[in-house]
Amino acid sequence: MYLKTLENAYSLAGKNAIVTGGAKGIGLGITRALANQGANVAVFARDEKTAGTVIKELEAEFGGVRFSFYKADISSTESCRNAVDAYIRDNGRIDILVNNAGIGPNGRFVDMDEELTDWFNCFNVDLHGAARMCYNVLKYMRKQKSGHIINITSNAGEIVNYPFLTAYASSKAAFNHFTKCLAAEVANEGIRVNAIAPGFTFSNFAKDIPEEAYKALCEQIPIGRFAQNYEIGLLAAYLAGDASDIITGAVITADGGYVLQH
Ligand SMILES: NC(=O)c1ccc[n+]([C@@H]2O[C@H](COP(=O)([O-])OP(=O)(O)OC[C@H]3O[C@@H](n4cnc5c(N)ncnc54)[C@H](OP(=O)(O)O)[C@@H]3O)[C@@H](O)[C@H]2O)c1
Repeated sequence: MYLKTLENAYSLAGKNAIVTGGAKGIGLGITRALANQGANVAVFARDEKTAGTVIKELEAEFGGVRFSFYKADISSTESCRNAVDAYIRDNGRIDILVNNAGIGPNGRFVDMDEELTDWFNCFNVDLHGAARMCYNVLKYMRKQKSGHIINITSNAGEIVNYPFLTAYASSKAAFNHFTKCLAAEVANEGIRVNAIAPGFTFSNFAKDIPEEAYKALCEQIPIGRFAQNYEIGLLAAYLAGDASDIITGAVITADGGYVLQH
């Protein structure tokens, strides 16, 4: 019995997963890792063209799992509700939700306009977008009495000296706390909620960093490098599976030790 549990502990065979922003950057690393463990993955995002191309590549790369796309703008209540309802109509159940989609506006808080447009845009996607997705998906997970939610936050939610990231860091700090509060709310309903807080990761934004700037940033990271998208994916696959059944309400920092010295 014990050995059998170990054999299957990392398998996601037959599980149904949604990954917001799952066709680009870290989200694509997560889509790949979940599919590699046997999950069927639906990408929820706005950019249909890119997702279509990526899904064709994934279908050629992975056999035996299904990929799909649902057009969803997580800054809209209606869009989230419609996309989740359509997903359930098509697939019947939802086992895993990864709230990965996010934006990262740069700029000082004191330089924002009076309406705090950048502040509200940031919170509306990075925090409220994930909350909308949780709200809609939980309707179904609670009926099933099972499910795993994984939130992609940021180590910016744990430190205060990323320059020009006050709105982003504040939204990610709230996202970490939301993860813990929600985990406590639904733990006795068979649902787990955890977060991964990446540091610098080789997603789209990192591609444009000049070599010298990259080296300077790496000097501040104890292990001396950025994370790869697939490394965040591997962690998400672990949190989505039975191997992590004892873990809920955790925020796992995945930043090569950056927060240790900031
Ligand atoms: N890269 C890093 O170093 C790093 C570090 C810490 C945390 N993170 C976090 O990791 C997550 C992914 O980051 P990334 O670097 O991979 O970003 P990215 O390459 O810019 O991708 C962002 C993703 O979010 C989706 N998205 C943005 N706004 C959306 C909206 N309103 N509705 C639906 N989807 C939306 C985009 O898809 P569409 O354009 O198709 O909508 C895209 O797939 C973010 O939450 C970010 O804060 C990143």
